[in-house]
Amino acid sequence: MAALRNLEDGTEYSESAVEPGSSTQAVHGGTQRHKAYHALHTPIVQTATYTFANTQELIDFMQRQTWGEGREREEYGRYGNPTVNAVEKKLAALDHGEDAVIYSSGMNAVTSVLLSILPTGAHVIMTDDCYRRTRQFCMTFLQRFGIETSVVPMGDYEALDNAIIPKKTRFIISESPTNPYLRVADLTRIAELGRKHHVRTLIDSTFATPINQTALDWGIDFVLHSATKYLSGHNDLLAGVIVGSKERIAGLRAARGILGGVSDPQNAFLLDRGIKTLGVRVRHQNQTAQAIAEFLEQHPRIERVWYPGLESHPDHAIANAQMKGFGGVISFEVAGDMDTTIRFIDSLKIPYIAASLGGSESLVEPPAIMSYFDKTREEREAIGIKDTLVRYAVGLEDADDLIRDLDQALARV
Ligand SMILES: Cc1ncc(COP(=O)(O)O)c(C=O)c1O
Repeated sequence: MAALRNLEDGTEYSESAVEPGSSTQAVHGGTQRHKAYHALHTPIVQTATYTFANTQELIDFMQRQTWGEGREREEYGRYGNPTVNAVEKKLAALDHGEDAVIYSSGMNAVTSVLLSILPTGAHVIMTDDCYRRTRQFCMTFLQRFGIETSVVPMGDYEALDNAIIPKKTRFIISESPTNPYLRVADLTRIAELGRKHHVRTLIDSTFATPINQTALDWGIDFVLHSATKYLSGHNDLLAGVIVGSKERIAGLRAARGILGGVSDPQNAFLLDRGIKTLGVRVRHQNQTAQAIAEFLEQHPRIERVWYPGLESHPDHAIANAQMKGFGGVISFEVAGDMDTTIRFIDSLKIPYIAASLGGSESLVEPPAIMSYFDKTREEREAIGIKDTLVRYAVGLEDADDLIRDLDQALARV
């Protein structure tokens, strides 16, 4: 079983044969008590480099590292840091992986994993309805290195199978749930396709969190999160993480030492602190979002609601089978036009108008005039972004207050 915590002599505490639950892992996973100060929290080891007492110590370290006997200490901040390592262990435990590597942002995690693994001439498949910058990176930056990307419709597994080019396709990337329509991928089918064709699979699980979904358990190779969202949970930092097998993550960590997208120790400490409350926060957000989705679905001024916890959602059945909760983001279409939608958003009193999700404060955004502002209406509609679409990311407020607020705003449109 995964160790709950490390004792001061370096041994791991694990008396029970039962795998600890996700909230227990969120609190205790990876924690390293400081030998000298008996501190409860993993200390912030604020250093750029590490010293050697003499050249023999340096030679011993280099030998152990070079000949694969593992690292029991650090050499330089871009290669490792104890505070960063502790949060990586916690994240690995939460997502049921062997190891994890954190980055300076979610996008840094996306770009680093692809740059680290893909050779020139490779081919990537991604599902549509995904984070715009991930798609942009694949379609523009990767193309410059001769790497082509095919985009297939989410939920069309035949199209996914057909898009695989033998010996060329190296990666299948999908979000689950997606942004903004909260589509849920059938993880088993994606993992099976990956195995059949020797293609690596990656799920961006940002909207789910490890509380609601552990994609590695369904056979996926890599799980990615923008830790800026639910994992840190307070809208106050940027970070990204990738979880997977020991061997695959070792490769990514070595590449991070070259690409340089590290998270600094202060940031890692804040992330660790945020994760401790992940379980209670996400379960609260699941409940609030479900209540809001049900309220909106019966409201006459709402055209359509997209939330995987609703039976009307196209992926409700697969979400039910795969997820422990449906997350804190709801997308919906206001009955009317762009002006109606703007009046509605401006009448809301609790959520802030802001990009992002997963923090304490509820946030609302009209994708047509935020994430997709630079596109024409025709271009937006071609990718399914309507003028009346609203994305609402619930925070930690009381559900009744948020619903009352939505009700009064809808009464004004
Ligand atoms: C699903 C998803 N993946 C990745 C990212 C990128 O994360 P970051 O903003 O931490 O770079 C985002 C950001 O919104 C996202 O929503």
